[in-house]
Amino acid sequence: MKNIIMNHKPKITREDREKLNKHKSVVIWFTGLSGSGKSTLAFSIEEKLHKFGCRTIVLDGDNIRSGISSNLSFNDNDRKENIRRVRELVKLMTEAGVITIVAMISPFNHDRNLVRELVTNDKFIEIYCCASLETCESRDAKGLYKRARSGEIKNFTGIDSPYEAPVNPDLVIDTQNQQVQDSVNQIMNYIKDKIIT
Ligand code: ADX
Repeated sequence: MKNIIMNHKPKITREDREKLNKHKSVVIWFTGLSGSGKSTLAFSIEEKLHKFGCRTIVLDGDNIRSGISSNLSFNDNDRKENIRRVRELVKLMTEAGVITIVAMISPFNHDRNLVRELVTNDKFIEIYCCASLETCESRDAKGLYKRARSGEIKNFTGIDSPYEAPVNPDLVIDTQNQQVQDSVNQIMNYIKDKIIT
């Protein structure tokens, strides 16, 4: 493809759009086990930011997998492909000046680090929703852990598929013990300086 595709250089840049929006287009990336609270926090943070007049979008694992990644399974390769697609979406969204909030298990450090490299370190905020497997399994809001334990669902994260906790996340949220509102406040305090232009 190298010699036949030539990228166009846009006249309007990400920085121009950030100026117009009056905020930076950072990426807020939630990672953690299924049932660890990623989606709950992602949509709550979006609501807060929206009220402050920020342009936002949430890319949520379940929604992504019923759309752009609906042809993918949960084996390691397909999870990598899933994150690669979201990485490309993140690239477009941040170029568009939008604060992009991602809520995906994203089990591999390598794949999350690729996103960090793509959007540059200071614009990537990795938030680890920390809750033990026992806690997530006892919540089992979608009934999926039960189905995974019975063998009906294969390659389930934490059961028969790995999860690599972030080595050096920007923020760790104790979603096992902390109330949602306290977690939202903790995250808002952390990100507020990072989105000011
Ligand atoms: S990821 O590993 O590829 O990042 P993603 O966040 O998109 O996962 O999707 C996870 C969601 O898919 C979970 O919240 C859960 O509802 C559902 N799901 C269905 N099967 C599995 C599975 N085998 N492992 C993990 N999640 C699953």
